Amino acid sequence: MPRLRLLLSAAFGGLPTACGQASRGGGRALRRLVREPLCGALAATLLLASYGCGSPPRPGIAFPDGWPLSAATDPVSASAGLVSTTDEFATRVGLDVLEAGGNAVDAAVATGLALAVVNPEAGNLGGGGFMMIRLADGSVHAQDHREKAPLAATRDMYLDSAGAVTDRSLVGHLAAGVPGTVAGLWEAHQRFGSMEWAALVEPAIELAAGFETTTRLLSTLEAVGGKMLPFPAAARLFMPGGEPPPLGSAFRQPELAAVLRRLGDGGPDDFYRGETARLIVSEMERGGGIMTIADLDRYEALWREPVAFGYRGYTVYSVPPPSSGGVTMAMIAGMLERWELAELGWNSPETIHLMVEAFRRAYADRNEYLADPDFVELPIDELVSEAYAAARAATIERDRATPSAEVRPGLASIVDESHTTHYAVVDSAGNAVAVTTSLNSWYGSKVVVDGAGFFLNNTMDDFTAKPGTPNQFGLVQGAGNAVAPEKRMLSAMSPTIVEDPDGELFLVAGTPGGASIITTVLQTIFNVVDHGMNAAQAVHAPRVHHQHLPDLVFHEYGGLPEATVAALEAMGHTVEERDPGPADAYFQGGVSGDVQLIRVLPDGSLAGWSDPRRGGLALGRR
Ligand code: DON
Repeated sequence: MPRLRLLLSAAFGGLPTACGQASRGGGRALRRLVREPLCGALAATLLLASYGCGSPPRPGIAFPDGWPLSAATDPVSASAGLVSTTDEFATRVGLDVLEAGGNAVDAAVATGLALAVVNPEAGNLGGGGFMMIRLADGSVHAQDHREKAPLAATRDMYLDSAGAVTDRSLVGHLAAGVPGTVAGLWEAHQRFGSMEWAALVEPAIELAAGFETTTRLLSTLEAVGGKMLPFPAAARLFMPGGEPPPLGSAFRQPELAAVLRRLGDGGPDDFYRGETARLIVSEMERGGGIMTIADLDRYEALWREPVAFGYRGYTVYSVPPPSSGGVTMAMIAGMLERWELAELGWNSPETIHLMVEAFRRAYADRNEYLADPDFVELPIDELVSEAYAAARAATIERDRATPSAEVRPGLASIVDESHTTHYAVVDSAGNAVAVTTSLNSWYGSKVVVDGAGFFLNNTMDDFTAKPGTPNQFGLVQGAGNAVAPEKRMLSAMSPTIVEDPDGELFLVAGTPGGASIITTVLQTIFNVVDHGMNAAQAVHAPRVHHQHLPDLVFHEYGGLPEATVAALEAMGHTVEERDPGPADAYFQGGVSGDVQLIRVLPDGSLAGWSDPRRGGLALGRR
């Protein structure tokens, strides 16, 4: 049975010659560094790698006193490929594929499928996402494998008879959109893969036969597993006897293994038209869902024109609608480029103020205008134009917060029980892949397909259930994003690839975090481009967020010094520290994101870092 750090490499032969960062046994976050027992020396080395050694911080960059992540960490370096994911098993699967001669797309496919097994709270077969690919020849490709609404979906399906929003978009069979992940990974492999498809599915099959449960899995089950109890297949597998399985026990997923075996043998036909499709539809019929064989049969992953925009001579590529990521980042960067953030200083009150004002304006537009472009006319050219950025930026006052009510009215609150995941791969030829994939909340709708062993998403909640009413991320979205048959719900997922001013690959980045995905990815880019941080520093740096409504500047727990908070408040901002949650919680609360970042250095070597906030792992090949 696969154990952490001992990867089953049957499909590819042998252990990789890897160099890598600390793994914290599946996700011990921030201050709570009580670790699973590792072999002592290794544990000590890993701890140091994540939390202390390395280059001194760049002059002028100092993280706040007490911030638990180091500003003096060197990233993982590599010369022949690097993989970064939130999970050690999955990272090792990706690295094995690179070792076996696969390219970055092959590695991403195998990694994505492995995440569906070992990271069932977010990795998935029953969800969807977006993929950015930049080939070594410089061509850039954006793939949309976002879920879509079933044919029988209706605009008001989440309202009760009094017109109030119910929780049916979040929990249960009606919450699930038609899954896109399987189609997306297959399409990417068909177009750009080089290895046998079956060989890329094999590691996931092996992991589904049994892997040692991690503290990450158990802690997320402890947090939300109770919501699975009404759903028999989910309860049986993930909450046997009403509790998560014991730590370190063999977690076997035979039904999922069978689904993966059929996927490996025959491609996605089984999932969308065959035995697995029939199992999904039977599950729907048992639970009062509306997804049919016709929905699954008609699902297609789509290649779309990437969003590209300039920022201080760099070119940023990200995904277009139905994700809001690329367009919203372009709007923010367009406004901010007129100020020298480097001179104003990293996370100085002035820099945070300007970022927040740009975030506020861009999210107001995002929430109102963006939706599935196949259903709604989107004013994208205007939104990302220089003229628009100039006009929007002209309304920013240097020393006063503009209340969101003056930009657009409304009220909301943010709830943070949710999870998605991002993974990034660069191979030795310089091909790069960034994928953000999601079930939306942890374990999606909490419904497992009986006989198939995987969770269905609850991404229908990303639609506007009722204009003016916030969704689980507190986003107040417009009528353009209302539910309609076969429509794709608006996303914030932002897998992103940046080229340097010479047009060479520079950064591969992405994160989960719901509404804060966009601001987290951008701050990571600013940390490198404006503030000269290395990959580890850029990931470790504390983050802020604003999304227009609620009219609050969120910051990570312990992430802003009191003097900075006071200076922002004096400008009229309402500042809110993210709640760290109970002291004994496994996942540190109060943080934003789980960034996977790969940077290409001037000598062509790679530097990568996986966010310690969720305990991931970056590994490279020398
Ligand atoms: O597509 C979106 O924007 C959301 N469904 C992403 C969910 C997410 O990032 C949850 N993770 N924290």
